[in-house]
Amino acid sequence: MLNQAQVLQALENVYDPELHQSIVDLNMVRNIAIEPEGSISLDIALTVEGCPLHQKITDDVNQALRKNPNVRDVAVNLSVMNEQERKIAFQKAFEHAQKSQRKAQSQKPNVAGPSSGRKAPFIGPLPGQEAALGMMSDANKTVVIGIASGKGGVGKSTVTANLAVALKEQGARVGVIDMDIYGFSQGRMFGAKEKARVNEREQIIPWHVHGIELVSMSMFVEEGQAIVWRGPMLGKMMQQFFTDVAWPELDYLLVDLPPGTGDVALDVAQKIRKAKLVLVTTPQEVATHVAHRAGDVAVRAQQEIIGVIENMSYVVCPHGESMYIFGSGGGKTLAGLFKVPLLGQIPLETTVREGGDEGSPVVISEPLSLSSRAFMEIAERIKQQIEKEAAG
Ligand SMILES: Nc1ncnc2c1ncn2[C@@H]1O[C@H](COP(=O)(O)OP(=O)(O)OP(=O)(O)O)[C@@H](O)[C@H]1O
Ligand SMILES: [Mg+2]
Repeated sequence: MLNQAQVLQALENVYDPELHQSIVDLNMVRNIAIEPEGSISLDIALTVEGCPLHQKITDDVNQALRKNPNVRDVAVNLSVMNEQERKIAFQKAFEHAQKSQRKAQSQKPNVAGPSSGRKAPFIGPLPGQEAALGMMSDANKTVVIGIASGKGGVGKSTVTANLAVALKEQGARVGVIDMDIYGFSQGRMFGAKEKARVNEREQIIPWHVHGIELVSMSMFVEEGQAIVWRGPMLGKMMQQFFTDVAWPELDYLLVDLPPGTGDVALDVAQKIRKAKLVLVTTPQEVATHVAHRAGDVAVRAQQEIIGVIENMSYVVCPHGESMYIFGSGGGKTLAGLFKVPLLGQIPLETTVREGGDEGSPVVISEPLSLSSRAFMEIAERIKQQIEKEAAG
């Protein structure tokens, strides 16, 4: 029969599906009890309550242990880590990701181009693109900002597109990654339809639209087409958006994150240590509450939150007064919770939606609208904040 050390060894290759690291290394395996007749029971401490992938971990543990013919029965009891344990687990996952990234870079790996589906040799940067290929390195000067919310439909993609254009209007060189692999929308928002093209080095050539460099899944699939990738494939695609794109030199790279508090934002945080985060919320309490969880993930991953944007804050009536139809104060509350600035409030305006639907962000289509001015002010605030940080 197995002993404790052998049980741990058998579980070495069971990975936490969100943190992509061994559950043993993450100290998730506890209280192993082995009965002589072949029953094993153990506790698995999940990083977060209600972790949606707990069934996968349970199945993988079962599978790993039952490989041994002497194991007759496996009982997995799930529990949840406390704050301190979780912090340590996230830190470990983070360090692990950094280590494998450094290892991968030193080995000059083969990275498959998503268009070709085959392994493309890693040749190295084109002249002038060293900085871009090093997007994932700490030394790269591009400021990477994820736009997150937790709750869906609060306007992350709208904010990403308009913030990108507003930063560009202020003289910055800006790129956008539509990291919402399943629910991509940036192609539509920017009016970009062309399918992906790659250069001679098999790097994706970003769309150049409204002065912005943009990559999105819609370069590869039709809108409405289901994408059924899971874990590793998804992670690989995300990585390729950073490393296998012929990015020119950029001052800002905005990353439109999918809704949810989970693993994509964490993955970005792990891949790009310096990535910062902007939280988008609507004024309602519920959206703020969910955004808070998104922010919590960032804090745990030691990611800097640079501020909160409140979207759909108010409607301006024909007589000029503002109506706070969704309530008020959500953005301010959220900013207060994380002790970060409320970067701005964007009104609910038809022109914002129309701009997004017609492929021309409102900052371009209606530059004098209230929302455009709000976006310009937010961009200026972010720029000032980042420049101040860089100087001091
Ligand atoms: N300030 C605004 N005024 C009017 N309409 C808006 C505003 N902000 C966003 N919208 C509209 O609300 C809808 C949802 O916005 P958007 O797609 O940007 O949200 P999202 O958070 O990215 O959604 P998802 O979670 O699905 O990715 C879109 O139709 C968009 O045009
Ligand atoms: Mg979106």
